[in-house]
Amino acid sequence: MSSCIRSVVTGVGDYLPARVVTNDDLAKVVDTSDAWIVERTGIHQRREAGDGETTSDLATRAADRALAHAGRTPADVDLIIVGTTTPDLTFPAVATQVQRKLGCPVGIAFDVQAVCSGFVYALATADNFVVRGQSKCCLVIGAETMTRLMDWTDRTTCVLFGDGAGAVVLEPRPGEGTTADRGILGVALRADGTKQDLLYVDGGPSTTGTTGKLRMQGNQVFRNAVVNISEAVVASARAAGVALEEVDWFIPHQANQRILEGVARRLGIDERRVISTVAEHANTSAASIPLALAQGVADGRIKPGQLLLIEAMGGGLTWGAAVLRL
Ligand code: ACO
Repeated sequence: MSSCIRSVVTGVGDYLPARVVTNDDLAKVVDTSDAWIVERTGIHQRREAGDGETTSDLATRAADRALAHAGRTPADVDLIIVGTTTPDLTFPAVATQVQRKLGCPVGIAFDVQAVCSGFVYALATADNFVVRGQSKCCLVIGAETMTRLMDWTDRTTCVLFGDGAGAVVLEPRPGEGTTADRGILGVALRADGTKQDLLYVDGGPSTTGTTGKLRMQGNQVFRNAVVNISEAVVASARAAGVALEEVDWFIPHQANQRILEGVARRLGIDERRVISTVAEHANTSAASIPLALAQGVADGRIKPGQLLLIEAMGGGLTWGAAVLRL
């Protein structure tokens, strides 16, 4: 075993917009019902950003809480990476807006676009900066206003998504190179661009010149999700050198309760070790993992020193998983 630098999560924070939208509220907009949505997805409600409330607003609030939790201030931050697919503007990045709103000094700031896998991709990217000595205090944020990408006449998609943000502070800490180290221990990232048509937005600056609306072949996405996520989970555990039985908490991307249960069943994971927030948050894309993490920490289930496994799949297709000790 040799000494090394690990990227350690030293703080977590979240922010949910105030407006709650229930399934019954949506049943007034499209031909759906609370019973259908709950049975097929496990979703009971979602949050929706208020008028004028943007992704960078949500991200800034979550980041502020994560810094406070870590005992850091904006002046300490030298790197901001935001996983988002719903930026305030086509450019600049949400990350530079968060930098400005928090009052962080000149540093590195950029967005990662991997849709629902955005937080896993952003965390893996940040890990590389931290272990190479290029960041001493990094904010990794997942923030989305997915409701703004919805076609409100399409009941097959508009009932699934919600808005929110979650953030972590990553800092370098010395490790021993063992699985007892705190920090990110193993990562597996994947992408398959041939599956674009399963989940995409039908607009953009270089095509329609509009933002576009989310389009999805739900049951195809579902099938790919369980298989792909399971493979990445196993690969990340292997990269970390841990067995799945050692993992204290699985913190999946919160797409659909049936996907969470499908992955857990396939991998023999006890459902009591899975953090699920999909009932209250719905699918908040890149925000869902840090939101679930912050909730688990806040309610005392997730404790320092525990082994966590995060995983996600999203448009692209992109998917991935990471193992970390808190
Ligand atoms: N309310 C009522 N009925 C509906 C609704 C709705 N909101 N949406 C679809 N239906 C109907 C369909 O029209 C269809 O009717 P039909 O049989 O008369 O044609 C019927 O319900 C069944 O539709 P399916 O699409 O087969 O339903 P399924 O059981 O596959 O559930 C769902 C759909 C929930 C979208 C599911 O496929 C799913 O969750 N897929 C994963 C999608 C996902 O989570 N994407 C998020 C992004 S990727 C990610 O995060 C992993």
